[in-house]
Amino acid sequence: MNDTICLVTGANSGIGLETARSLAQQGATVIMTARSIERGEAALAEVRQSTGSSQVSLLHLDLADLASIRAAAEAFSTEHDRLDVLVNNAGLMLGDRRETADGFEMTFGVNHLGHFAFTLLLLPRIEAAAPSRIVNVSSAAHKAARSGLDLDDLMFTRRSYSPMAAYSASKLANIHFTRELARRLEGRGVSVNALHPGVVGSRFASDGDFKGLFSNLYGFARPFMLTPAKGARTSLHVATSEEGGQVSGAYFARKRQARVSRAAQDDDSARALWTLSEALTGVSI
Ligand SMILES: NC(=O)c1ccc[n+]([C@@H]2O[C@H](COP(=O)([O-])OP(=O)(O)OC[C@H]3O[C@@H](n4cnc5c(N)ncnc54)[C@H](OP(=O)(O)O)[C@@H]3O)[C@@H](O)[C@H]2O)c1
Repeated sequence: MNDTICLVTGANSGIGLETARSLAQQGATVIMTARSIERGEAALAEVRQSTGSSQVSLLHLDLADLASIRAAAEAFSTEHDRLDVLVNNAGLMLGDRRETADGFEMTFGVNHLGHFAFTLLLLPRIEAAAPSRIVNVSSAAHKAARSGLDLDDLMFTRRSYSPMAAYSASKLANIHFTRELARRLEGRGVSVNALHPGVVGSRFASDGDFKGLFSNLYGFARPFMLTPAKGARTSLHVATSEEGGQVSGAYFARKRQARVSRAAQDDDSARALWTLSEALTGVSI
């Protein structure tokens, strides 16, 4: 990975931290993003110390705020003329309905709309690095959104909020985005793929994101889950393997191409989501 520039979102914790660490170990220049400067700096120091690499830096990015997304994309683009690998890893599931700075339901806003806007704003730099890659960390939880996206109520304003419904829809949106972006970038040297990392014992669904039964169950089950380092393997496979550069619009699990749900193959829904996402974020290509 020498001479490649990689950016990992949500790189201060869990799967993102281990993805950034491994990319740095492999010689890449790595930009770690974090929404908390304090947590980001602690993670940056740890990665620098454990890898001995000085080619790792921190970029502030709050995906729940379009102003922060624009500022981060601009700061990156001022500093670097190309981006070889973008790993859209940050994500969350919330026990209660919250909103982003721009009034979007938080799960959909961070997991999908934030990454949608950030990726499109970085696209000139990603295309400048072609052959280059966009890696979207989705989840097998997308399969729980069996009847597809409710395009009339993506933000849970008309129906009651359900954490799993919001999370699975956001992860289905990650796959729609992957397939639609891959289609739009065909022949331009940028591969776009999505993945499920496995069930990973990270800080996911903790720290006040979730309270009550689910949080307790998750806490008890954590020792039996994959370590974040193992959970990063599929992201790293898609980001660095030959196969990850050869296919586009695919979905990986356990470092292999895997099938997505029937709802995730609905290309009309992917196109409609794209149009809505452009309108909501004000970002387009
Ligand atoms: N853990 C699993 O079993 C599992 C399974 C399938 C898919 N995934 C996916 O894997 C990805 C990584 O999750 P993880 O398990 O490593 O969880 P994690 O340890 O909680 O890490 C999530 C990262 O996302 C960041 N993040 C949250 N909200 C953000 C925002 N508004 N702006 C910018 N960054 C934000 C977090 O920052 P803070 O530290 O500041 O909160 C953290 O760095 C997620 O997309 C998740 O959906 C996880």
